[in-house]
Amino acid sequence: MQPADPAHTPKDGRTVAVVADRVVLACLLALPLAITLRYLPYYALGVSGRARHTLHSLLGPSGPIGISFGIAGAALFLFMWFYPLRKRWTALRRLGNPGIWLQVHILAGLALPLAVAVHSGWRFAGIIGLGYVAMTLVVLSGVVGRYLYSHIPRRQDGVELSREAVANERRALLTRIAAATGLDPTEVGRTLHPGPERGASRGIAGTLARLVIGDLARRRAIRDLTRLWSRPRPGHPAPDPRALAEAVRLARREVALGQQVRMLEATHRVFAWWHVAHLPVAITAFLAILVHVGVAVLVGGVMPR
Ligand code: HEM
Repeated sequence: MQPADPAHTPKDGRTVAVVADRVVLACLLALPLAITLRYLPYYALGVSGRARHTLHSLLGPSGPIGISFGIAGAALFLFMWFYPLRKRWTALRRLGNPGIWLQVHILAGLALPLAVAVHSGWRFAGIIGLGYVAMTLVVLSGVVGRYLYSHIPRRQDGVELSREAVANERRALLTRIAAATGLDPTEVGRTLHPGPERGASRGIAGTLARLVIGDLARRRAIRDLTRLWSRPRPGHPAPDPRALAEAVRLARREVALGQQVRMLEATHRVFAWWHVAHLPVAITAFLAILVHVGVAVLVGGVMPR
């Protein structure tokens, strides 16, 4: 195995972005989670018990902590609409990188349920209960949407790659893996894709199942590949660990692109259905939150209840 050529070993931006996302999400979730755990005995009480509790003026929906989370939750929820509006309005499209805006949309969406739960004191009755259910459904559906989105080959800025661009990238990856491992590119291709490639199945459940099975198979294949490439070959020096790590990283991308391209039509079809389902639930949550905020402002819901 040849030592990795630093000129052809770009820093793995995807790994850095994943770590950064996790840190930001942990920061966003830390405060509402800490408050919930710290004041669990209060949140466990019924309505009448809470009203008599000394902490009610602080933690109730209109107390300083409760209302702060309510305002932060409403602001985050309104902010969630920036991403779809940016996609639809040409004037907004010039603002920043679409991939980063989607990441911000996702992080804000994942932080929302906990912030709103602290605002409502973990009680979900009435119209806001409907809003909370709708919002939670949008968030869960968002997780599925994110999964589908990640199975469409894209550049790092989120723009979808054409089939031709994918084919070019896969060819370049094979050449680079061959250079890093000292193997022949055809042999590398055979190792990465040993069996006949199965076509995509039809239907939502079938496609999702095929995607999940493909992901698991991919992980197994990369594990086997790492083991195979780590073994010293007769007459060759021991593999260079940096070159091996680089070859495995490139192989991960190549195998992922192969799976994405095979499933592309089916993934696009399911993703289109997903868009149809995601939007109405998001609008329901929006209307319920609008009514709740309107009523709270008009009825003067700023006093502890
Ligand atoms: C209350 C929270 C959320 C609201 C109100 C919301 C709203 C929306 C809306 C209105 C769209 C555009 C749909 C369309 O273009 O037809 C969208 C797209 C999307 N959302 Fe969310 N969302 C929320 C949370 C999430 C979460 C938590 C995730 C991921 C974990 C997520 C992932 C996505 C993805 C992947 C797209 C599609 C991106 C694309 O096709 O360009 N969303 N969201």
